[in-house]
Amino acid sequence: MPDPSDRPLFLTPCDPAPAGFRQVMLAKRHLLAGPVAVLVNDLAQWQACSAGFGDRLIGLVLTPTAAAQPHCERLAPLAWHLAIPADWLPAAPSIFGGWLQSIAEADAQGQQVFALEHRMERVGREFELTRHDYNELTGRLQHQVQQLLATQGELGRLNETLEARVAERTADLGRANEGLYQALAELKATQNELLKSAELAHLGALVAGIAHELNTPIGNALTVATALSHETAQLRAEREAGGIRRSSLDRLLARVDEIALVLEKNLVRAADIIHHTKPLAVDRLSEQRRRFRVAEVIDDTLAALSPQLRRAPVTLAVQVDGTVEMDSFPGALGTVLSNLVTNALTHAFEGRDQGRMQLQARPCDDGQLEMVFSDDGAGMAPAVLGRVFEPFFTTQLGRGGSGLGLYITYNQVRRMLGGNISVTSTVGRGTSFRLLLPRIAPQPA
Ligand SMILES: Nc1ncnc2c1ncn2[C@@H]1O[C@H](COP(=O)(O)OP(=O)(O)OP(=O)(O)O)[C@@H](O)[C@H]1O
Ligand SMILES: [Mg+2]
Repeated sequence: MPDPSDRPLFLTPCDPAPAGFRQVMLAKRHLLAGPVAVLVNDLAQWQACSAGFGDRLIGLVLTPTAAAQPHCERLAPLAWHLAIPADWLPAAPSIFGGWLQSIAEADAQGQQVFALEHRMERVGREFELTRHDYNELTGRLQHQVQQLLATQGELGRLNETLEARVAERTADLGRANEGLYQALAELKATQNELLKSAELAHLGALVAGIAHELNTPIGNALTVATALSHETAQLRAEREAGGIRRSSLDRLLARVDEIALVLEKNLVRAADIIHHTKPLAVDRLSEQRRRFRVAEVIDDTLAALSPQLRRAPVTLAVQVDGTVEMDSFPGALGTVLSNLVTNALTHAFEGRDQGRMQLQARPCDDGQLEMVFSDDGAGMAPAVLGRVFEPFFTTQLGRGGSGLGLYITYNQVRRMLGGNISVTSTVGRGTSFRLLLPRIAPQPA
């Protein structure tokens, strides 16, 4: 705001201007800037130059008068017309200067008050806005607190019902569990059924296999028996025709010898097959189960095999913990061991002048017995290895092999002893059988 003291307070468009007046072309910016005294020739001149804003003037409009006395009248709310004798005019600034200055200062203060009021109003408005924001925030906070309280209440109610729901769920689970147990029992029953039918199928295949194997020796025996009866019929006819010639009798005797040999050979073969098949029929319930030391069964089996072992140019190293015990079927374990050793002697070292076999038995942490029997003999080609547990599979056909040894071994290990057997072999490097047997054999199903 311009300092009112800098501003000319006495203005006039008249030329020359009396002392104390500044001569200006009267304009709105001079006349409305603050309190001012304007000297004009007459009121008509004033009205001409203040048209449109004269009523907003603060101050005096001075006109010279010929009268001896001054005359005053109000022009606008804060403006007065003062007609003064012309020779008083030079004294006007000193007479009214102080008064106008005071009005100007009052006006400046008024303006400051106005500005202050304006600022206060603004501050008030800002305060209002802040208050509004505050109220809104408070409202929102209250809302959130209410929501929290509601959630807390809900949680409380949930907590109250939780126990009931847990109990309900537990009961549901119990029922579901019962259902599962039932399903499991049904599954076990079905599994047993399946096992039974699998066993029957297996038995059927076995019987068919045995019949097939017996067919050759029994067929051969039948053929020669028929031939014998034919020969004897011829001799009888010769006797009825008059008498038996000596040469005929000799020929028949030679034939009988020949036939007897063939018969014996074939019947031995048939007996052999039947003998080999016998262990398959032994059932778990009738086989004697007992507690025994593994080393004891190994010793007994090897003692029974000692004639063959002595004959063969091989060594057998046995590593077994003498204290390990089993509650199982010692007969089956003996058969298994015997088959493995016999096989190694028969197949692994054929045509070799030395060889080594190894038998290791050790208890495992999981309640099983690990038994490994290996040889460093001929080994097996993959095609043979893949079929060794099949019934009647043998590479010794016609040379005394029935192909039942490992089939029986497999069955004894699985069915009687409740364990597992696996084999690895490399041609020229040897073969290794690994058995995992529960030290307490499972109860028969
Ligand atoms: N230790 C081994 N080394 C090499 N080949 C083997 C060994 N053990 C078994 N085999 C092979 O596995 C085949 C099957 O053996 P398996 O004991 O079932 O019948 P087999 O010994 O031929 O006849 P059987 O035992 O009935 O007298 C054998 O013919 C042989 O080829
Ligand atoms: Mg064999």
